[in-house]
This record gives sequence, structure tokens and C-alpha cells, in this order.
Amino acid sequence: MYRGGSFVERGRAAAVVRRGDAGAVSEQAIMGWLGEQLGLDVENLDRRAMRRALTRCMRKLEVRDMNALWRRMLTSAQARQMVIDAMIVPESWFFRYPESYALLGEHLAARNGARLLSVPCAAGEEPYSMAIAVLERGLSAMVDAVDVSAACLARARAGSYGARAFRGTDASWRARYFDEADGRFVVKPRVRRMVRFHRANVLERVRMLAMGKYDAIFCRNLLIYLAPAKRSQVIDLLCAMLNEDGLLFVGHGEMGMIEHPELVHLDKPQAFALRRRQRPLKPVVEALPRVLPSQQVGRKERALRGSDDLGAHLQRASRMADQGCLEQASALCDQCLALRPDWPEAWLLRAMIDSARQRPRAAEKALRKVLYLAPDHEEALLHLASLLEQRGHKERAELLRRRVREAS
Ligand SMILES: C[S@@+](CC[C@H](N)C(=O)[O-])C[C@H]1O[C@@H](n2cnc3c(N)ncnc32)[C@H](O)[C@@H]1O
Repeated sequence: MYRGGSFVERGRAAAVVRRGDAGAVSEQAIMGWLGEQLGLDVENLDRRAMRRALTRCMRKLEVRDMNALWRRMLTSAQARQMVIDAMIVPESWFFRYPESYALLGEHLAARNGARLLSVPCAAGEEPYSMAIAVLERGLSAMVDAVDVSAACLARARAGSYGARAFRGTDASWRARYFDEADGRFVVKPRVRRMVRFHRANVLERVRMLAMGKYDAIFCRNLLIYLAPAKRSQVIDLLCAMLNEDGLLFVGHGEMGMIEHPELVHLDKPQAFALRRRQRPLKPVVEALPRVLPSQQVGRKERALRGSDDLGAHLQRASRMADQGCLEQASALCDQCLALRPDWPEAWLLRAMIDSARQRPRAAEKALRKVLYLAPDHEEALLHLASLLEQRGHKERAELLRRRVREAS
């Protein structure tokens, strides 16, 4: 669903640029947009490094200043993607924090066919390491690998690395999983087959939830760059995507950032891992009823059910949202709600779509509707907690999280 993002501030910023204000205004607009899109804590980033990156973009796009760059971004998804690619920190290497891979191997033990997720995966070093760790145990698994950067994913799919990508490891295993040519190491097909790459933004909750649940998730060296509210939102999401007893691996320095009622810090030095302890949350699609109870089927609903049932209608809306067709998803969802306004799952989808369209107030209203209809709805409680936290209402967010703890 990631398409370079919608511009909430678009009209306003464009007007400012038209009035010919200094490049500083456009730079601020670009920074604000990046903060919104990537969840970055822009206030705490190195402004000079960011400016250098933006200057590189200007050169590539052949635009003369910040105003022209912002103007180009307003009309070109390619320019927006270029700015994202220039801003991210794609640093990674094979078997970074080796103890985490040892723990992953132990965790999977004899579990064949596990589902693993690497987000963000940078240029593929992490997900390929996960696949190799699984193969070293004589097991098989499927690794989904997600990153927001198109440039990183192109390198990941090519699967060709220089010696630096193996720093800090003894690499005795390398010959088993790579072919060497001209000083480069190319991932062998049996490793490649285990990894699927996806371009997505981890802030896209609907899209991420639709990927399903995982036995282990590596989310390393991303949380550290995120603004606190976005960080909690991502932690909630990852928790919802973990199977019961699943492991979440984070980066050195990120363990201390995680306080979550459903995640237990594991005492495994240098592995930086947490275990999910409670019953998993239901993803939206799974939670949708297949058919309506017959007594609730009215005249309009019967008409709709002429071709399909209302449950399938909402599932279609959910699928469309996952594919990024938010307008259509929104229209279908509203049809469902018009026919059945007391349906918590339809209000939840309404909230997810509003969140994806960067409309937090509408999302909050829809979540409150879910909780009016189903007061203990975990997904809605956690999502609302994240939204409130983003707006600085920490205590109210904590009260909601407590409700989740008490209900389970
Ligand atoms: C430092 S690398 C981490 C790679 C790997 N996990 C590791 O620890 O070695 C950070 C990556 O985060 C990606 N990234 C940044 N914001 C993201 C977002 N909102 N969604 C998905 N990926 C993101 C960047 O493209 C970059 O490749």
C-alpha cells in the first residue's frame, strides 16, 4: 500500500512555496513529511546530514533548490521515493548480534516450516542470515522481509555482497550458502528461495497485519530512529503479529525502549530478545464474520446478499485497504456500516483505513464506536492507546492498556 504517502499538508505547503518564501520553509515541509511518512524523530536527527542527502536528491533530479525539490515531490512519487532512499540508514551486515541467531535456532528447535519476519530488512543481510540460521539447524522456514526503501530492496533481491557485509563473523559457513565471483559473494538459490521481499512501510498497520502472524520477528535498528509515539505504535503492531510464545528481536540499545504488557524481556545476553506472553490478537481479516445472523438480515442486506454476503463485502474492503485502494475500501466499508451500524469489526476497519489515510481524529472516533459496541475489544483498545499516545495523552493510553491486561 506504500505509494509515497498522501499529503495532508500538501495544499498549504504548496501555497507557501508559491508565495516564494525562503527554501527553509520547503526544507521544513520536507522534514515534516519525512517525519510523518517514516515516523522519524526529525527533531533529533542530524540536520546537516539530512541536508546533504537532500542536496544529492536535488542534483539527481536536476532541480536548483529546496523549493523546487518540494514542488517536485508534490507531483512525483518517484521523487518522494528518491528522498526516502536518500534519508534512510541502510547499515547492516550478516549475523549482526550472533547470539540472536543462536537463540532463534534454539527457539525453532524441531519446528519445521516456521514463519519469520525481518522488518526492516535493509539490503537483505538480516533475512538471509535468518534463513541460513534455519538451514544450519537442518530445518526449513519462510522468511518475509520488509523495507520501505526501493533501493535497498533492489540490492537485497540481487543478493550480491562484498566482504564488508561479513564483518564481525567468522564466516566459516559462507562457502555453503554463497557462490564467490570477482570478489563478491552471491546468495545461493536454496537460501534465496526461503526469503520473500516486500516494499512496505512498517507504519502501514492494515498492510502489515494482513501479512499474518510470525514465530519470530526481527525488528532491529529502526525503533531507535522513531518518534516515541510511532515507536509504541510499531511495538503494538509487532506484538499483534507474533504468535503466542513468538520472539521479538530488537537492536542493541532498543531493549530499554520496550515496555509492553505482552512482551517479556528475555535474559539472554547480547540476543536482545523478548517473548510474547499472551493470547494473540485477532487480525482484522480473520475477525470478520463469514455470514450474518439471519435475524439481522434486512431488506437492503438481502439485496446486497443477492451477490454476496455482508461479511464477504467487508472482507473485500479489508483486502482493498491492504492493496492500497483506500478510496474503494472506504466506500465499501461505509456501505457495510450503513447496512449494519452496530458491527464492531466494520468500525475497526473504518479506523484502520482512517489511520492509513492519516486521519487520526476520524480513526479515534471509529475506535470509540468499536469500544462502545464491544468494550473489551483488544485490537481497538491497543490502537486507541497508540493514537492517544501520539497526541501526548500518555496516562489515558496507559489506562487503555491496563484494560487490555485486565481483560485477558
Ligand atoms: C539500520 S537498517 C536496519 C537493518 C537491519 N534490521 C539490521 O539491524 O541490520 C534501517 C532500515 O530501516 C528502513 N526503514 C526506515 N523506516 C522504515 C519504515 N517506516 N518502514 C520500513 N522500513 C523502514 C530503512 O530503509 C533501512 O533499510
